[in-house]
Amino acid sequence: MRIVDVENLWKVYNRRKEALRGISFHVESGEIFALLGPNGAGKTTTVKILSCISKPTSGKVEVMGYSVPDQCSKVRERVGVVPQEFQGFSDLTVEENIKYFVKLYRGEESQVEELMKTLDLLEYRKTRFRNLSGGYKRRVAIACSLAGDPKLLFMDEPTVGLDPRSRRDVWNLITEVKRRGISVLLTTHYLDEAQKLSDRIGIIFNGKIVRLSTPGELMEEFRKQSLEEAYLALMESLGDV
Ligand SMILES: Nc1ncnc2c1ncn2[C@@H]1O[C@H](COP(=O)(O)OP(=O)(O)OP(=O)(O)O)[C@@H](O)[C@H]1O
Ligand SMILES: [Mg+2]
Repeated sequence: MRIVDVENLWKVYNRRKEALRGISFHVESGEIFALLGPNGAGKTTTVKILSCISKPTSGKVEVMGYSVPDQCSKVRERVGVVPQEFQGFSDLTVEENIKYFVKLYRGEESQVEELMKTLDLLEYRKTRFRNLSGGYKRRVAIACSLAGDPKLLFMDEPTVGLDPRSRRDVWNLITEVKRRGISVLLTTHYLDEAQKLSDRIGIIFNGKIVRLSTPGELMEEFRKQSLEEAYLALMESLGDV
């Protein structure tokens, strides 16, 4: 089953800037799909449209069988989002922030405790959001995105700014999320991360999808040992040097 289905999606900002120029791709239920591409390629724009934060200009977008933007209220209830710039409530504590999202999604009160445990946040439960380090703010963002038991998670650069250990923790968490049957669409600039985590990748370049494949297929195509090398070879072939 296709949990995300996108056909010929366009996004034009301010009637001038063509951020997405007719992209098509899908995400199968249960898989981890990574959107890759240089700065400004259109990754966040895509994630924002799929998670109903921004509207498409044209094209077909279906998330969990619901049409975007027409059925966005259904979509919002069922997906979790880790935005590129997560802004928690800075004066509220970790626990209060998570509680807010659990209540918003009408989850059980016990979920607050569970999420703090999963994300290793118990020690910081009484700390105000603004006093957390960048890595712990990310953890809170991920905890909040899991409130309400979503079946699909959008993560925009989930590990940016994390120290190597915390990055591994988030990788394990994403793997665990997949094990629970949750599909994940993530964006990242870390190609080792994409290689390790994703079942399939889509590469966006200047608002167009230039590759849809598995990490292994791309590495084979360019005869490289790592996704990073294969990606760089692809970028070079596209004239981005
Ligand atoms: N609200 C907006 N108004 C006008 N242009 C925008 C807006 N948001 C994004 N853009 C432009 O659309 C293009 C795609 O931006 P987007 O944020 O989707 O890129 P990205 O692939 O997420 O990049 P990054 O890797 O840097 O996060 C860029 O040229 C950006 O400047
Ligand atoms: Mg982005």
